[in-house]
Amino acid sequence: MMTIPTLNKPLSNLCEQDFIKFADSACTLISQAPDENQLQELKVQLQGKKSELVALSKQMGGLDVDDKKVYGGYLHELRTRLTTAFDHQGQLLAQKALNERLTAEQIDITLPARGVPAGGLHPITKITERMKQFFVQAGFSVATGPEVESDYYNFEALNIPSHHPARAMHDTFYFDAHYLLRTHTSGVQIRTMEKNEPPLRIICPGRVYRCDSDQTHSPMFHQMEGLMISKSSNFAELKGLIHEFLDAFFGKKMTVRFRPSFFPFTEPSAEVDILSDNGKWLEVLGCGMVHPKVLQNCGINPDEYTGFAFGLGIERFAMLYYGIDDLRLFFQNDLRFLKQFG
Ligand code: DAH
Repeated sequence: MMTIPTLNKPLSNLCEQDFIKFADSACTLISQAPDENQLQELKVQLQGKKSELVALSKQMGGLDVDDKKVYGGYLHELRTRLTTAFDHQGQLLAQKALNERLTAEQIDITLPARGVPAGGLHPITKITERMKQFFVQAGFSVATGPEVESDYYNFEALNIPSHHPARAMHDTFYFDAHYLLRTHTSGVQIRTMEKNEPPLRIICPGRVYRCDSDQTHSPMFHQMEGLMISKSSNFAELKGLIHEFLDAFFGKKMTVRFRPSFFPFTEPSAEVDILSDNGKWLEVLGCGMVHPKVLQNCGINPDEYTGFAFGLGIERFAMLYYGIDDLRLFFQNDLRFLKQFG
């Protein structure tokens, strides 16, 4: 602890030497203040309202004129020395603090950068883009529709009336008697035909929902619908387009089979299989000529226009394309899985 020097005598009993001694020891003390806090404390004690210096100054009033001049001079000198010493030490401490900060906060600009990990598109997004790329080049535009759909667009208008057994296959999530989560993207066909005059060429990729969950099913998955309406659309054109799409998508000549099937909204209908490397046929999509009733439901004259449609599961294509055997991997958000598609 520092001891504050003191004069300890009335003003008129002091001589110049006393002041000089006092100033010397006070300045030594100031020059030893190790930090800004202690310097402030010293300032209060040596120059503050309760300091000896102020007490002595107050005694000036009781002196005669000559003594006033002499002691006034001593006191002035003392104050000046203290102020100079405080300023000097203040500057030294500020410089010291700055140097310490500069050392502590030093940045080594020669260190290698940490790097920002790059994000990537989800494999389902990538596959969807790959599909879109083909169809957009073939003149199709991309349509969208609501995921909360009415019974009319999801079923009724697609020639699936309420008693129809096809409804049971859809494992529908219902909100109430009229609204549901769309079970397929086919409703967008209806919305498109209602709003636009043929000829039409659209695809509609999007989320669909079914109450189903296992290695190859997820309650939410993605489909892509395709629709073409013109005065001359026919099954041969549909076959050609699908075959070309499959070749382009898989990047090689594919062996493709159209197998007769049934969908309420197409007639005739077919399912399309591709021959896999291990010699097995794999079903990849459904398609057919748009049913005349569906055209009628949308105000299109089936005697004037014909059309074809197709629908496919995007996850299925992604699994085949990337060689993935569990569809649930797409939705677990495991970065170890997703990073492989960066
Ligand atoms: N909507 C059908 C499904 O979810 C897929 C489908 C089949 C769509 C044939 C079509 C089609 O447009 O013509 O299983």
